[in-house]
Amino acid sequence: MTRLIIDTDPGIDDAYAIALACASPEVELIGVTTVFGNVGLADTTRNALRVLALCGREDVPVAAGADRPLVQPHPHLAVHVHGEDGLSGLADTLPERATGLAGVDAVSMLVRLLEESSEPVVIAPIGPLTNIALLLAAHPGVRSKIERLVVMGGGIDGGNVTAAAEFNVWSDPEAARRVLVEESVPVTLVPLDLTTRCAVDGAWLDRLGTSGAVGETLVRMSGTYREHYQQALGRDGIVIHDAVAVAEAVRPGILRTTRMPVDVDCGLGPSRGMTIGDRRDHRVRIYEAPREIDVALDADLDEVRAFLGSRLAGVH
Ligand code: BDR
Ligand code: CA
Repeated sequence: MTRLIIDTDPGIDDAYAIALACASPEVELIGVTTVFGNVGLADTTRNALRVLALCGREDVPVAAGADRPLVQPHPHLAVHVHGEDGLSGLADTLPERATGLAGVDAVSMLVRLLEESSEPVVIAPIGPLTNIALLLAAHPGVRSKIERLVVMGGGIDGGNVTAAAEFNVWSDPEAARRVLVEESVPVTLVPLDLTTRCAVDGAWLDRLGTSGAVGETLVRMSGTYREHYQQALGRDGIVIHDAVAVAEAVRPGILRTTRMPVDVDCGLGPSRGMTIGDRRDHRVRIYEAPREIDVALDADLDEVRAFLGSRLAGVH
């Protein structure tokens, strides 16, 4: 069984991703770490605890991490997409978890979980990459304990928060560059290009909404997000970016990947946070790329939607 840690900024699609991990027998969710991003750190941490309580997981340790990016100030949160509290204004209606925080910061908990694990661990970072950059910079010895990072982030053909940049990478480009470009830990990057194609429609949401307590709550919590995506997609539906990435962690190979070097623009101009994927044949490149990573650009879209729908409906 794959041992999985989720690093997250809940966030509505993060909530779906956490619920997916909780509902999947292929993985053992051994920890959740939180980071600023969609909303501030206090809110993402409360939301992570409450989503785990909703899924009946008092046992999963939770630790809070970075409250800001490594270098530059964070330009803005994503409250227009996820609501002021990160969960469409419904965070306070979710059950409170009896088990509080682990009592250590996120990086310390990641180090402990990795060092204690006899098996390599998969980490799914689905928010800004600040915690993971700090972990790898300060504790290089844990690299060998990480099987791979399945990262939701980037957009090879353009962004969402700006024309060039995807939200998670744009939120801390220096951290993203460290993790995606400068490190050696294997990465599967799940960018907007694919997550957007996996959008689920109103009928999918209606089915989930009548599947049981967790599904009903997830759909009810999607209000602000659903309104945002109604505008963005031009039809009823949502893009559950983070759950698509966690699907790959749960069922390796459900997404189809292409190897390519990816760089991150850390400049301060209009393309800050852009992920530049080099899809050219390596024989025509005139430079030595630092490394190549796996980028998920294709999948059987109906299979992904069906997998997400059935798993999330099975959480009770
Ligand atoms: C990513 O940004 C956040 O708003 C979502 O939770 C997801 O992780 C999509 O760009
Ligand atoms: Ca997220």
